[in-house]
Amino acid sequence: MMLKRFINFAIKIFTSLFPSEKPLLLTGKDSALKLASLLRLSGYRRPLLVTEKSLLELGLLDGVLGQLKNEGCDVSLFDGVVPNPTCDVVEAGISACKANDSDSVFVVGGGSAIDVAKVIAACRAMNVGVHAVVGLLKVKQPTLPLYVVPTTSGTGSEVTSTAVISDTKTHEKNFVVDPKLIPSVAALDPELIKSLPSHITAATGMDALTHAIEAYTSLNRFSDAERDAELAIQLLIKYLPVVCEDGNNIKAREWVAIASFLAGYAFNKSGLGYVHAISHQISALYNTPHGIANAVILTRVLRFNQGVCAHRLAKLETMLRVQKIAWLTASSSGWNYLPND
Ligand SMILES: [Fe+2]
Repeated sequence: MMLKRFINFAIKIFTSLFPSEKPLLLTGKDSALKLASLLRLSGYRRPLLVTEKSLLELGLLDGVLGQLKNEGCDVSLFDGVVPNPTCDVVEAGISACKANDSDSVFVVGGGSAIDVAKVIAACRAMNVGVHAVVGLLKVKQPTLPLYVVPTTSGTGSEVTSTAVISDTKTHEKNFVVDPKLIPSVAALDPELIKSLPSHITAATGMDALTHAIEAYTSLNRFSDAERDAELAIQLLIKYLPVVCEDGNNIKAREWVAIASFLAGYAFNKSGLGYVHAISHQISALYNTPHGIANAVILTRVLRFNQGVCAHRLAKLETMLRVQKIAWLTASSSGWNYLPND
């Protein structure tokens, strides 16, 4: 018990000494284009555009690429991001950044792409390779300015100080953790998220909900993180089922993206818990998608934790009950969705 209290105290001190900051946030239709204009207005001209080849082929980057070029930017492209990116992928991105003398990094993609962009921006600023920044607080100077457009709503990577890179030699996940990795600006553009298939929307959304609930029930309390976690839970309970039913519902897409951002901020500050600790092991063994592993484990861990956070769980239940009344009301007025008990 004493050790636990000491660890919680140490985390509080660490978080107070190295406070998390939120990126400037743009939301809504065409916010990705505004982000491109903002990069140029901020005085940068040679961004490295980091993305996944599949997004490029789908034409998802046409608008952003066109806008950057219209603004007079000399854009270089790095489309080598893959799921569970390796050190080799990041090194290739660093080489592209160096070869083009890029002055900023603009990323469009999911959590993997954002993680790769964070490490490229850090390594290029320090002129070092990936291994020099692996670990805690290894980023010794400000990164290249980082502009982020997430195309999924779940990881919260657009607001966190962490990047995960796989090492093919040791078969381990390398964590880069430093507040300097937090992006400068993020744009939550629902038009770039609406094509996400329903099953991925559900899995990533459950990841966001787990972030929010684990932060909300954490013993490391910070008032702003608590407020954001609470709001994220309410938004996800209300809008996640809607976007799973209808991916083209732009308003609901936007709220889910905002909820994911808020949940990301909350867990970046208050930390995660046993759900993530267990689900990472399951995913490593069976390749289970992260959000699905979280969803399966969540209720079991909440039951296990009730002895230490009963008050929090009671508040959570009240929130869900109020939401259920809203669901019933919406259903009677034609909203065709009702959760199971
Ligand atoms: Fe997660």
